[in-house]
Amino acid sequence: DMMKEVSGLKDLEKQIKSLLDIKDVIVVAGDSDLSPWVKKEMGRACVACMKERLASQSIVAVAGGTTLAAVAEMMTPELKQMDILFVPARGGLGEDVKNQANTICARMAEKAMGNYRLLHVPDQLSDEAYQSMIEEPAIKEVLELIRSSNMVIHGIGDAITMAERRKTAREEMAKIKHRHAVAEAFGYYFNQEGEVVHKVKTMGIQLEDVKKVKHVIAVAGGASKAKAIKAYMKQAHHSVLITDEGAARELIRE
Ligand code: F6P
Repeated sequence: DMMKEVSGLKDLEKQIKSLLDIKDVIVVAGDSDLSPWVKKEMGRACVACMKERLASQSIVAVAGGTTLAAVAEMMTPELKQMDILFVPARGGLGEDVKNQANTICARMAEKAMGNYRLLHVPDQLSDEAYQSMIEEPAIKEVLELIRSSNMVIHGIGDAITMAERRKTAREEMAKIKHRHAVAEAFGYYFNQEGEVVHKVKTMGIQLEDVKKVKHVIAVAGGASKAKAIKAYMKQAHHSVLITDEGAARELIRE
């Protein structure tokens, strides 16, 4: 029954929190690998978590991916009075338009009745183009907003799944595999110790910046992401994790 299910999830949360040694964990029912609506449930939990933690005039940086797209869809307008500014966490990471940070950021702001700024930069930039672009006043301004964000919301992916989804070049793919990457988040690839083994070059928030942000919320579920979640969380002890039962049970089983 309902009460039993809720207490079961609370128990899972406690176990995951101590297993991963992280600040806070929310586990929703189901497995998003099997049922797509579970992403929306994680989205609902994420929105509630955001509302608890956001102060007026906060800047929220959001990453891309299908999970974050579900978070955006679950956003509600109660934040309207708070004058929140949404920005994309980083530039293009090779996602389809609907799963890009820019798109999700605009959608989330629209649903929250907040404001947003976008980062208009191509995915692949030569070093020279990159250097001159970050000096462009319009881009510089958005980059500064991103760097001063009070909250970051991001997904976590399985490293190989993400590298393939991004159509990563052969050489780069070889490096990712050779260095045993298991997790990916906002363009960084991590091995099972939580060490960075590769990074996609794009503008926006860097891992060092994320570590200084007050509220970091990672949203990732599905049994297939258990290894990735475990690895990523090794270097993100001050983050809040929003996950599902599928991932949580797999984490405990491992
Ligand atoms: O590419 C953006 C991104 O946020 C990645 O950093 C992350 O690994 C991935 O999306 C998660 O995507 P999904 O929620 O679709 O699994």
